[in-house]
Amino acid sequence: MKERVIVKMTEEKVLNRIAELAEQINRDYDGAPIHLICILKGSVFITCELAKRLKCPVTLDFMSVSSYGDGTTSSGIVRIAKDLDESLEGKNVIVIEDIVDSGRTLSYLLDILSQRKPKSLKLFTLLDKPSRRVTEVKVDYTGFVIEDYFVVGFGLDYAQKYRNLPYIGCLEFIEE
Ligand code: IMP
Ligand code: MG
Repeated sequence: MKERVIVKMTEEKVLNRIAELAEQINRDYDGAPIHLICILKGSVFITCELAKRLKCPVTLDFMSVSSYGDGTTSSGIVRIAKDLDESLEGKNVIVIEDIVDSGRTLSYLLDILSQRKPKSLKLFTLLDKPSRRVTEVKVDYTGFVIEDYFVVGFGLDYAQKYRNLPYIGCLEFIEE
């Protein structure tokens, strides 16, 4: 099988949307410090673009989680492969995710993080596939709502590939 990526959202479109959301966050927090949590690896590109556009004092931390599943769907049982370096206590935390699909990974993660006593805890996702939702998750900042197709690029991968594409594309499989 050959793979082909079809452009769905250009780099310009993605960056414009991140800039709009950054402005909204700047208004919402009104200069208060923000602690961004980047969920590795998919959110790295998004976190950098968002962080550069925030006008308040920003600190960053990274977390890596993997969700046990059958390969295509997550089970909701999350293993923390790399935990945060710093405490969340008293901080305005925004978790940055690349995409919310079933919602299982994030609802579990937000549960764990809320027990660490942040002052506030919000969720930012570049993409949301609400039609796939199994577990309810409250998303505070959403880039784009998309249909149920598999996307790659801007940090999102298929078998660890395509994360470096500067645009969001839809992955197609072609029989040879
Ligand atoms: P869930 O919300 O627990 O089902 O899992 C969300 C995770 O599944 C995301 O962080 C991605 O790593 C992965 N994922 C879901 N949909 C896609 C997609 O269309 N492309 C790439 N990764 C995806
Ligand atoms: Mg991910």
